[in-house]
Amino acid sequence: MSIIKYSRKFSQQIPLLCLAELKDSGLRGRGGAGFSMAFKLESCRNVEDVMKFIVCNADEGDPGAFSDRYLLEQRPHALLMGMMIAGYLTGASVGVVYIRGEYPESVTIISDAIALLHDKKFLGKNILGSNFNFDFKVIKAQGAYICGEETALLSSIEGQRPEVRVRPPYPTQKGLFNKPTVVNNVETLANLPFIMQQGGKKFASIGTAKSTGTKLISLDGHFNRPGIYEADMGTPLRAVIDELGGGFKHPIKAMHIGGPLGGLVPISKIDNLTVDFDSFAKEGFLLGHASIVCIPEDYPLIDYIEHLFRFTSHESCGKCFPCRLGSTRGYEMIDKARNSDYKMDRQLMDDLLETLETGSLCALGGGLPLPVKNALKYFDSELSPYFKK
Ligand SMILES: Cc1cc2nc3c(=O)[nH]c(=O)nc-3n(C[C@H](O)[C@H](O)[C@H](O)COP(=O)(O)O)c2cc1C
Ligand code: SF4
Repeated sequence: MSIIKYSRKFSQQIPLLCLAELKDSGLRGRGGAGFSMAFKLESCRNVEDVMKFIVCNADEGDPGAFSDRYLLEQRPHALLMGMMIAGYLTGASVGVVYIRGEYPESVTIISDAIALLHDKKFLGKNILGSNFNFDFKVIKAQGAYICGEETALLSSIEGQRPEVRVRPPYPTQKGLFNKPTVVNNVETLANLPFIMQQGGKKFASIGTAKSTGTKLISLDGHFNRPGIYEADMGTPLRAVIDELGGGFKHPIKAMHIGGPLGGLVPISKIDNLTVDFDSFAKEGFLLGHASIVCIPEDYPLIDYIEHLFRFTSHESCGKCFPCRLGSTRGYEMIDKARNSDYKMDRQLMDDLLETLETGSLCALGGGLPLPVKNALKYFDSELSPYFKK
């Protein structure tokens, strides 16, 4: 009797021991913001509820990013096991994999991988006598960029309009169907099996002190060797471009790194950057999901920033006015300056960017100013003809 009591007590300690490993690992979210994974899981664990969810954000809407697709299709069980570990640590029993509609092969591969787990009796109730229940649901998303934003994603799963929710409450408190929910990116979750097998300290020994582990990087067709590469956090950007990507096929003037809301990195900055959250933030850029989209030397930057405004206005959920109106007004201003002798007022543009940055409810409107400001700062001579003197 005393042995059974002891083992029950011990089994209750296991999630806490696993959580301690996760804390030691220093794992930060790979979906864009670099938020602490252990903090998120712990805050969900601390909310008492019989129903909790682990949601995998596999919407991967950033143009030029395909690392989530790689994991979904080539390492499906790393992701699924990662979600089960997250469920075990938080007390969640349902995992929802929300997969971008444009990835039908990923939907099939993940569904088959889940079926295999069922065959092996690794899913369901009281899995292998462990008292742990877990099962999955796969959602084929319907393709709007804003559905990748975690709260819009939750509304989308609920069958509602994918509108961003005001925080707090955070999803870990009130998420899917108002239940405590963890939302994580594919790559973040796929790191958990390694951490549980090898230990948090082993994971933290890779990368830098504040950006531990490795990062998948998507290189676009302007590289001699485009594709997905895994690099230790802290790898010089120069090494990624020259040694992994084989250099550029033709002259490039800037790289848009980390999706449409990431920074516009001029070629002159390559040697100042290493692939980690802090190096990018220190230089005024954003690592984000680490996709690299190149802008050729002969591609007009005015066209590029016009496209960013148009993209944002098209994808805006419309909930807050800085983004709903600001992205459209910005687009109209640039369009007029491109197609007539109208010159933009720089003060007006700066005010618009400040309003977007400080007044937007989420990082779609709030993130648009970063690449635009980078463009205005580093490509002043190319863009100044479009502004009043
Ligand atoms: C407009 C917008 C789109 C986003 N799209 C994605 C996406 O496709 N995939 C993703 O993982 N995170 C995306 N995010 C970030 C999520 O809101 C959230 O921070 C992330 O899923 C958390 O996971 P992580 O902590 O593992 O990074 C997006 C955010 C915004 C504002
Ligand atoms: S910033 Fe844009 S996408 Fe985000 S809540 Fe506001 S309107 Fe919606």
